[in-house]
Amino acid sequence: MSTVVIIGAQWGDEGKGKIVDFLTEKCDYVVRFQGGCNAGHTVVVGEEKYILHLIPSGILHKNKKCIIGNGVVLDPSGLLKEIETLTQKGIEIDNNLYIAKHCHLIMPYHIAIEEQSEKKKKIGTTKKGIGPCYTDKIARNGVRMIDLLYPDVLKNKIRANLEIINFLLKNLYNAETLDEANILTQYLNYAEKLKKYIADADILINKAIDSGKKVLFEGAQGTLLDIDHGTYPYVTSSNTIAGGACTGAGVSPRKIDNIIGIVKAYTTRVGEGPFPTEIKDSLGEEIRKRGGEYGATTGRPRRCGWLDLVGLRHSVRVNGFTGLAITKLDILDGIEKLKVCVGYKYGNSILEDFPKEIQILEDCMPVYEELQGWKESTAGIKNYEKLPDNAKKYLKFIEDSLKVKIQIISTGQKRDEIIIKESPL
Ligand code: IMP
Repeated sequence: MSTVVIIGAQWGDEGKGKIVDFLTEKCDYVVRFQGGCNAGHTVVVGEEKYILHLIPSGILHKNKKCIIGNGVVLDPSGLLKEIETLTQKGIEIDNNLYIAKHCHLIMPYHIAIEEQSEKKKKIGTTKKGIGPCYTDKIARNGVRMIDLLYPDVLKNKIRANLEIINFLLKNLYNAETLDEANILTQYLNYAEKLKKYIADADILINKAIDSGKKVLFEGAQGTLLDIDHGTYPYVTSSNTIAGGACTGAGVSPRKIDNIIGIVKAYTTRVGEGPFPTEIKDSLGEEIRKRGGEYGATTGRPRRCGWLDLVGLRHSVRVNGFTGLAITKLDILDGIEKLKVCVGYKYGNSILEDFPKEIQILEDCMPVYEELQGWKESTAGIKNYEKLPDNAKKYLKFIEDSLKVKIQIISTGQKRDEIIIKESPL
């Protein structure tokens, strides 16, 4: 097996960073294929904690090629800050980072317009300009990485976009307008610093796969935030599901061997939108504290809830997971009874499938099965046999319900606090 896609199976923040970090040791290339600096991948190496937003976390390993694919939306100022922070910590970037020519750039006007639109209609975005940047991409007005090398093209695109954006900022939002010359100077300055990373990423990745190199595709956010298959409109603006790896990197579905769904042992969500299994009492608060459930990008407290198998079945279906990794099992230690949502009650009917209508999802009540919790600590356990019996039963329940094997279980923040039942690479 030489390629694997890592996907968040819930609403993001499943702990993908750690699993990616573990699998990176076994691979040669790590590719980001969607999203942008709205993502926050936390990796703990020794005593050092790294939060990466844009650069694949493979950069923390020596001599791994890290690629930002065409499906990503890239904020050059955020990227340069990330490069600087990592360089200061002794991480080598220059021979290891590649950015696709067709990667779209987040511009100051994307952030400005999102700031205003969030005031009118709150999605609870990260305010990083992600949605407006993808809007321009689809509307065919976007500025791409390669445009940085052609000042006239860059200038004309900025001018054409500002004409519309400034009109909206002034007349619709009554906000300050933006200056074309300032933005152009700023982006030409970024061009100087970033041009060495620009590459034909699709060619690079395909050549790597064809020559037998191991390639990991690192998803950001989660399935239920997918623009098509998530809880629209409370979603991010990209395809977060496994198929996104193909379009966002330029790789055929025929070249994908394994797809691993990362499932947190409970559920969390940041931002607005329906969340049927949300725990609104003190236990929710307790889980938030224990699990450190605060956004890696925005610091916002994450909403916490029980595991939702209805949402996860949907996730299994649209991604075709070949295996699962369960994260943060240790956070559930000591909770007497664990609830798992097995269906949704809507009016007088029980729904087994995740509803497509947001207004139905908003009115669904979870149907729970209760499982006995475990008193023992699972923190740092590395051997499956050493898990408490009830923890094994909890995992088996998930496996049987989803009909996908659990290959990895994470039992703590550190790199080695992990159980590998079967490696997907
Ligand atoms: P956006 O991606 O900034 O447009 O935000 C849209 C929605 O996706 C909001 O609910 C955000 O909280 C959520 N979101 C974006 N990135 C992440 C992430 O990395 N983890 C969890 N939620 C995210």
